[in-house]
Amino acid sequence: MQRLIQSIRGMNDVLPDATPYWRLLEDTAREVLAAYGYQEVRLPIVERTELFARSIGEVTDIVEKEMYTFTDRNGDSLTLRPEGTAGCVRAVVESGLARSEQRLWYQGPMFRHERPQKGRYRQFHQFGVEAFGLEGPDVDAEQILIGARIWRRLGLEGLTLEVNSLGTPAARAAYRAVLVDYLRAHFDQLDEDGQRRLEGNPLRVLDSKVPEMQPLIEGAPRLAEYLDESSRIHFEGLLEMLERAGVAYRVNPRLVRGLDYYEKTVYEWTTDRLGAQGTVCAGGRYDGLVEQLGGRRTPAAGFAIGLERIIALLEAGAQPRHHLPHAYLVVAAAGAETEALRLAEDLREALGGLRLVVNCGGGSLKTQVKRADRSGAELALILGDEERARGEVSVKRLRQDAPQEQVPLAALGAYLAGVLGLAQG
Ligand code: HAM
Repeated sequence: MQRLIQSIRGMNDVLPDATPYWRLLEDTAREVLAAYGYQEVRLPIVERTELFARSIGEVTDIVEKEMYTFTDRNGDSLTLRPEGTAGCVRAVVESGLARSEQRLWYQGPMFRHERPQKGRYRQFHQFGVEAFGLEGPDVDAEQILIGARIWRRLGLEGLTLEVNSLGTPAARAAYRAVLVDYLRAHFDQLDEDGQRRLEGNPLRVLDSKVPEMQPLIEGAPRLAEYLDESSRIHFEGLLEMLERAGVAYRVNPRLVRGLDYYEKTVYEWTTDRLGAQGTVCAGGRYDGLVEQLGGRRTPAAGFAIGLERIIALLEAGAQPRHHLPHAYLVVAAAGAETEALRLAEDLREALGGLRLVVNCGGGSLKTQVKRADRSGAELALILGDEERARGEVSVKRLRQDAPQEQVPLAALGAYLAGVLGLAQG
């Protein structure tokens, strides 16, 4: 026998038992985005390496050590996208879309060579949302409300929203200088990562989860004290809108994010139910990025949902039923296959959204009812000899203890519409 070729570590198949959760999440996100007037874009998975180095930042974990970068046959350095914002900005600048207001979303796989563990993969999927040309905190609030609506529609509870403001690049540079002085003065208390980040990316030192580092982090000067006036007003505006919209949040002055393009608003939605990988969605404002990538200065804000992490939460809850059949047609009368197919066609025609499986390949009544049960359907519609003679079907409820009912064929559409809550016509 040949040796089995296995999948790449951290890159997973999504098999039939999981796809219903993916579909539920994707459909829900799509519907919610449509309700806010966001439009879909589809973007390449491979981009020039330089795009990510220039946007995410040279001295970030992603660019320094996590990118899947290769030289193609032309000798160009290309990278599997580690995130979607950079490519989206490139696309809107290149196409000219960035010249007017845009509300966009995209979805797809992203690649980071991180150490795989539960909730952290090397190929993972994001649902990303980006708005261009809108300067005020209202669009930041709108995007947070989009997240909140998606969680609500999915029945996800217990997600915490943490927000912070990073200020403008100038304000951050002033803060950075003060922070570097502070960290240098406590150099021997920094762990290895902290010492490495001190010069290149000192704000990320504040992001450390290492317990021994916490007293040092607690004692560090606070970014909030160095915020410029416009960022302060923007942040206060956002917080007020969130309060008025009834969205609970926590200001986390230590929240800095791992990508360099952010300024002003940053936020993360987190859960305590997924262990160390508790951030399920994250984003913020990146007013300088369009210009940095060769466009005209254009304010912008966005966020991305980590689909695997939301799926993990959904899998811990109730099983979705939206992919299962409503009904299974048991064809127990001899020679009734053609009639059954026609009946099924008529029902699908009459009821929008009906999911109906017709038994194929014969089998006894008992076998077919067993198949109906295994299909996950709510109802078995039984067309047996007696039913056929009377112009009826028997309806058996497969998920409830209820007596079997006889329904005339002419009334079956209306009956199913009522029981299943489907629209006729
Ligand atoms: P990010 O925080 O790097 O931001 O990723 C967003 C989300 O993707 C994370 O909160 C997490 O749920 C998920 N994620 C990230 N890495 C992994 C991984 N290795 N395995 C599983 N899930 C992961 C961005 O990517 C920004 N582009 C978000 C954004 C859009 N900001 C503005 N617009």
